Amino acid sequence: MNRIENIDYVSEIKRLKKEKNAIILAHYYQTGDIQDIADFIGDSLALSQKAASTDADIILFAGVRFMAETAKILSPRKKVLIPDMNAGCSLADSCKAEDFKKFIDENPGRTIVTYVNTNIDIKVLSDIICTSSNAIPIIESLPAGEKILFGPDRNLGNYILNKTGRDIVVWNGACHVHEEFSLEAILKIKGENPEAKIIVHPECELPVRMVADYIGSTAALLKFTKTDNAETYIVGTEPGIIHQMKKENPGKRFIPAPPRDSTCGCNECSFMKLITIGKIYKCLRDEKPEILIDSEVLEKARKPIIRMMEISEKSGL
Ligand code: 13P
Ligand code: SF4
Repeated sequence: MNRIENIDYVSEIKRLKKEKNAIILAHYYQTGDIQDIADFIGDSLALSQKAASTDADIILFAGVRFMAETAKILSPRKKVLIPDMNAGCSLADSCKAEDFKKFIDENPGRTIVTYVNTNIDIKVLSDIICTSSNAIPIIESLPAGEKILFGPDRNLGNYILNKTGRDIVVWNGACHVHEEFSLEAILKIKGENPEAKIIVHPECELPVRMVADYIGSTAALLKFTKTDNAETYIVGTEPGIIHQMKKENPGKRFIPAPPRDSTCGCNECSFMKLITIGKIYKCLRDEKPEILIDSEVLEKARKPIIRMMEISEKSGL
């Protein structure tokens, strides 16, 4: 039981959720205890779709800030809460609006497609947003020959460039978690477990993607483990996802891909891990911190997100 200051967080959270008609949305990178109290667990795309369709009055987002902001943009009349405003994203922070504007000016005449892992001022500059689940269908929905500028993740950008063969220039940003995986350590584990399949997120670097048996978003990786017949997987993404993989595949074995520095624990997203059960309880009780976005900025950021939602729906995602 999660009990501090004599408060049973889990039952208090359940009570507050009911009393306030609130819903908890959690990303797969949250810790297992948080995933277990969530009403809905998903990848960035599924969480956005849920935020857009829920009839709850309050959305408490157990994830990072850009995800909660996307929820607010899709449900502007709802109260959207995040238990820790410092839950940022190193990838989003690797792309500052001023520098990105310059990059756009240096590459004129291109459609601006950005990964949802950005701060809101980048969304305002974008024509279409994508997630790791729908990046390829979004690019393919654009007319052949259309020139594209993609940011901020260089690994996802190069992955979709190779997959689609389109004319794409890519911003040079990256996520600190996915660039930390050690190819050598992954291959060592594979050597010790030759039957294991290597499954990785497209934010991983090319050498890691090249040895992978399967590449996909967190939701796609989870689905793969359920439909594939291997018994053991080496998982090249934030290890929070392994909680659901184990729950949905009893009997299978999941080995987190290790980081280069075996002493740092840096295959975990420190921003995601800022969210705790205790902070969720206080956030729901006090209804803060709340995501607030200037209405003009919200409207501008909404257009490219709605385009993403429409293309995803047409693609059956
Ligand atoms: P998903 O699109 O798989 O949810 O990934 C989000 C993310 O932050 C990856 O680091
Ligand atoms: Fe951002 Fe990387 Fe954390 Fe995902 S894992 S939220 S991209 S810092």
